[in-house]
This record gives sequence, C-alpha cells and structure tokens, in this order.
Amino acid sequence: MPRTERLRGATIVGTGCALPEKILSNFDLEKMVETSDEWIVTRTGIRERRMVAEGQDNSDIAAEAALKALEMAGLSVQDVDHIFVGTVTPDRMLPSMACTVQQKLGASHAACLDINAACSGFLYGLQIAQSLIQASASDTVLLIGAETLTRILDFQDRNTCVLFGDGAGAAVLRPCDPGTGVLSVKLGADGEQGDMLTIPAGGSARPATHETVSAREHFIRMRGNELFKYAVRAMEQISRDALAEAGRDASEVVALLPHQANQRIIDATADRLGIPKDKVMMNIERYGNTSAASVPILLDEVVRSGRIKDKDLIELVAFGGGVTWGAGVIEWNPKAAWPITSREARSSIAAVKTGAPA
Ligand code: ACO
Repeated sequence: MPRTERLRGATIVGTGCALPEKILSNFDLEKMVETSDEWIVTRTGIRERRMVAEGQDNSDIAAEAALKALEMAGLSVQDVDHIFVGTVTPDRMLPSMACTVQQKLGASHAACLDINAACSGFLYGLQIAQSLIQASASDTVLLIGAETLTRILDFQDRNTCVLFGDGAGAAVLRPCDPGTGVLSVKLGADGEQGDMLTIPAGGSARPATHETVSAREHFIRMRGNELFKYAVRAMEQISRDALAEAGRDASEVVALLPHQANQRIIDATADRLGIPKDKVMMNIERYGNTSAASVPILLDEVVRSGRIKDKDLIELVAFGGGVTWGAGVIEWNPKAAWPITSREARSSIAAVKTGAPA
C-alpha cells in the first residue's frame, strides 16, 4: 500500500446491495405465530422481509453486494486493501466471514476482519475505514454489512420473528482531500445492557448442547420495549455529536439514513433532531430490520435513486445489540476520490503468498 505524507480524508466511491429473492410477508407470519399484519404494520412499519434460500449463505449475498459496489466505484477486486464485514450472522464462527468473502471475490490482496457491533456494525466499520485511509494504512476499503437473521430467528416467538430479515449492503472507500467525504463518525456502547438483545447459547461461555438447543437458546432473545427507549435517546445524542464534530447543523442535513429497526424509533429520532419527514430515508416496509446490513442497503438505494447529489450533506445513524450505537456525517462526494496511482506494494504481498522473491 503506497504511503504518502499528503493529508487525507476518506470518501465513499461506490455502493451496492443484495436482497434474497424470497419474500416473507406479514400474512405468511400470521400462519406461523399469533400475530397480524395490522399489529406488525402499526407497531413497526414492516410489511415484508427477505429470506435467504436453502444453500444461500450470508457470504454469497455479501459478495454480490460487494461486486456491485466495486463496479460502481470502477475498481477491481485486486484493488481492495481491506475487507470489513459487519455481521452477527457469519457463515461460521471460524473463519471470519470477511475471509470467506475475500475467497469468493478473489480479492487476494485484502486483509480481512469481521466487526460484531450488531445493527451498528456499518458505522463501526465506517470509523475504522476512515481512520485507516486517513493514516495511509489503506487506500481501498471494502466495507460490508450483511446478515441472514432468519437463520437465527425463533419462528415460535412473535416478539422477535416478525422484526428481522436478510440482506447485504456494501460501500467502497478511497482517499480524498480532507474536508469532504466522511466528515465525522462517532460511536458509543453500553455493555451493561448486553442482555437486552442476545443469543444466550452457542458461544464459548455456553456451548451448544442438546439442552441449549431444546431450550431454543441459540435463537435471538430481546427486550424490545427497553431497547426501543434506549435506541431513541442514543440515536438522537450520537447524531448531534457527529454533527457537532463535523461542524455542521441538523438543518443542513439533506438526507437522514437511520437504521431500519422500527418506524416509530425512526420518527421519534428525526422529530427530536428537528429533521423533517421528507428528509428521512426509509425502506423498513420492504426489508424489516436487517441489522448491520440496514444502513448500507438504504444508502445504496438512496444513491442509485438519485436522491442525493454531489456535495449533499447526509447523516447515517444506527443502534443495536451490545448495546452499541453510532452516527456518521458525510459530504457526499465520490468525485473527490484520488485516482489509483501505484501498485508497487502488490508484488511483495503476492510474493509472501507464493513464496516467490519480492
Ligand atoms: N404480534 C402481536 N402482538 C405482539 C407481537 C406480535 N408480533 N409482539 C409482541 N406483541 C404483544 C406483546 O406480547 C404485548 O402484549 P401484552 O401487552 O399482552 O403483554 C404487546 O404486544 C405490546 O408489547 P410491547 O413490547 O410493549 O410493544 P411495543 O410497542 O414496544 O413494540 C417492538 C414491540 C416492535 C418489539 C418494539 O419495542 C421495538 O421495535 N423495539 C426495538 C426492537 C428492535 O428493533 N431490536 C433490534 C435491535 S435494536 C434496534 O435495532 C433498535
């Protein structure tokens, strides 16, 4: 990776998303648990969600979203220096899903890491990507949020199974001059509240046994009402903090892209920030809560629809299990990205892998 003394910012140059074809509607769920389309729509805003097919892995949709983002960016898989995947539903515990995505893409020069920050995973990844690019430790970061939550849902628990869905979103970041692109990212967490949203068994503290599986402890458990209140407070505050750090005001925000957990959480957060409804982007109706994939899927849809123009100020904000939260303020400016200049570092990395002299 070329190093430079020039001051660097980071900007998003491409986005992509992948949604499984299969649709699970509220009416389908009515046949599975004691619920109704009316309850789900009025309490959450969700009408349907996507569900991966048998044999379709999280890494498959992650790789599909990544390729679309790279295509928009006009970059190749060989240009990628780092792959980060925000997910709580990796294909396996080991290896990381980022490594599996690397293998599926053939992005052989990339270093790979998963980020487990639940629904805030994309925001956590955005700060890591921005920092690495600013520090000249990376030139091209592929940041993915991807989930197959339907694989860890208890379809006997109406409190959770109506909320979540599957999907993947991706963004590619490149260096730019400072003062545009990603202006600020602020993060927070409160581990004291970890059991508000948890999968009780299957980790090393409580490995999966016949008993844990019979007790359905390998599925998501949630205290939704408490999360709801915490989410609104945290999303409001972190949105303000990110704007303050960027030296911008909520009135300048052209589009707010909030994590799609619940329409009422989104409405309450936007209200508190004084951001009018027409500036609040939403797709919860179609996809439900896709955790770490939610913000990048929405970003890709908003970008491709032409809703945001160059130099528009946008704000991303999320809250999720952990509990974790984060917000990022971006001056949308893909054209500010520096062109790729040098491939010199590639040969030495390839040499390590093949054992050939550098
Ligand atoms: N269908 C019908 N009734 C239901 C359903 C359902 N699917 N789910 C719950 N209910 C019932 C409850 O049992 C309860 O009944 P009771 O009063 O007889 O006990 C009643 O509806 C009200 O339950 P509440 O939990 O108070 O309902 P609330 O208005 O808080 O909505 C919800 C619940 C939708 C889960 C909401 O709290 C929420 O969205 N919270 C955030 C959860 C979330 O998104 N978590 C993901 C990670 S964090 C995040 O992404 C922000």
